[in-house]
Amino acid sequence: MQLGIENISFATTEYVLPLTTLAEATGVEVGKFHVGIGQEHMSVPAPDEDIVTMAATAAQPILEGQDLSAIRTVLFATESGIDQSKAAGVYVHHLLGLDPRCRVVELKQACYSATAALQMAVALVARRPEQKVLVIASDVARYDRDSSGEPTQGAGAVAMLVSSNPAVLAIEAESGLHTADVMDFWRPNYRSTALVDGKYSVSVYMDALRSAWDDYRDQGGHALADFDRFCYHQPFTRLAVKAHRTLAKHSGELTAEQADEQIANTLDYNRQIGNTYTASVYIGLLSLLENAEEDLSGSRVGFFSYGSGSVAELFAGVVQPGYREMLRTTRHREQIQRRREIDHPTYVRLHAHPDGLVGGDHEFAQETTGPFRLAAIRGHKRVYETVAQFSAPADASGVEASAGDATTAVTTDTATTSL
Ligand code: HMG
Repeated sequence: MQLGIENISFATTEYVLPLTTLAEATGVEVGKFHVGIGQEHMSVPAPDEDIVTMAATAAQPILEGQDLSAIRTVLFATESGIDQSKAAGVYVHHLLGLDPRCRVVELKQACYSATAALQMAVALVARRPEQKVLVIASDVARYDRDSSGEPTQGAGAVAMLVSSNPAVLAIEAESGLHTADVMDFWRPNYRSTALVDGKYSVSVYMDALRSAWDDYRDQGGHALADFDRFCYHQPFTRLAVKAHRTLAKHSGELTAEQADEQIANTLDYNRQIGNTYTASVYIGLLSLLENAEEDLSGSRVGFFSYGSGSVAELFAGVVQPGYREMLRTTRHREQIQRRREIDHPTYVRLHAHPDGLVGGDHEFAQETTGPFRLAAIRGHKRVYETVAQFSAPADASGVEASAGDATTAVTTDTATTSL
């Protein structure tokens, strides 16, 4: 029996900040962002968007035509949780009209937890193959302004339907694991922004990669040369390039050029969105599937999932014949291209927005043009609503008739908005 991803979709935010704008405002040579860390834009949430609205927007299209009673588990991975007790997935369960006969839980371990959710989902489906699990990863990556992490911020969500009919990607059983108690990146409960020891975080990421790879091989995993493509957790895309060259050298199997070929197309979306924490490696998968010109059917794709603190996992999946019929390439490019560009003062105001929400009642004007919004916080309760007048892109209501058009570049082409 094959197990894995039957359907997958992502969503991002209403606003976007070009890193050229951040560079000008902070007096940094823009080459550091575009070349040094490999990022061009960062997604910025509107005040009426958060991990719940992005998650529901990502998940909605993959539920169309599904027997919702088969989805008896929702696993919501995030490290930017909105409540210390209630799982964000419970709000999403309501917004999407899922069956009440369902378990919903939130998972946390920095950027890694979506992979834990995926593996747990596979295990659940192995036990009850007639059931499906909805795995959601949704995060807003937020650092202090003027910190080293600021240009790597971003926001986005991925939803994956895991089943015994893995029409997109069948996940293989071998996994390489690594856990080490390190303080490279963390966010104490009293902070809304993450703390990071940037250079150290890169160093322990590479340690985790080598260690997880060695364990993967010990567990009977494939040689590096047996992989066709590789997707990395990408806090910034340049890190994925460096990481795969590091792995190529460590395994002694590939040249740097061959390593670069294996990660081609996995960086395109993340470069425009920024770090999406738990969602990042799976947005990398969508970037590969939707931007690679060749048919990837039968290709073995490696995944390196890393969450600071730290836990890492390396595993593989095989792209299934017919996967292109499951893609929503136009919708996903639209998610990136439709974002409204903001100027630096607006970014500064939106960045500070979450810090003004401690206690008290708040009503939020409608800014998002997405299908779900955070309307208010009243009596310490978050109030979400479905927006009736959502203007969907042409293929938003379902799977594309002919997906996989790799000719349209992912760029943002919008007028600057000052709010
Ligand atoms: P920094 O220290 O400000 O940057 O931030 P830098 O001075 O090291 O420069 C970066 C690169 O740009 C260098 O290249 C420069 O040479 C180059 P490198 O030596 O790395 O090859 N550069 C230029 N290139 C072209 N033109 C120019 C130019 N100027 C400089 N004009 C740092 C780097 C990674 C520390 C920072 O981005 C940061 O703190 N990021 C946040 C932490 C992070 O993302 N860590 C990654 C590993 S941990 C992880 O992945 C987990 C995480 O997602 C969270 C979680 O798990 O929950 C973060």
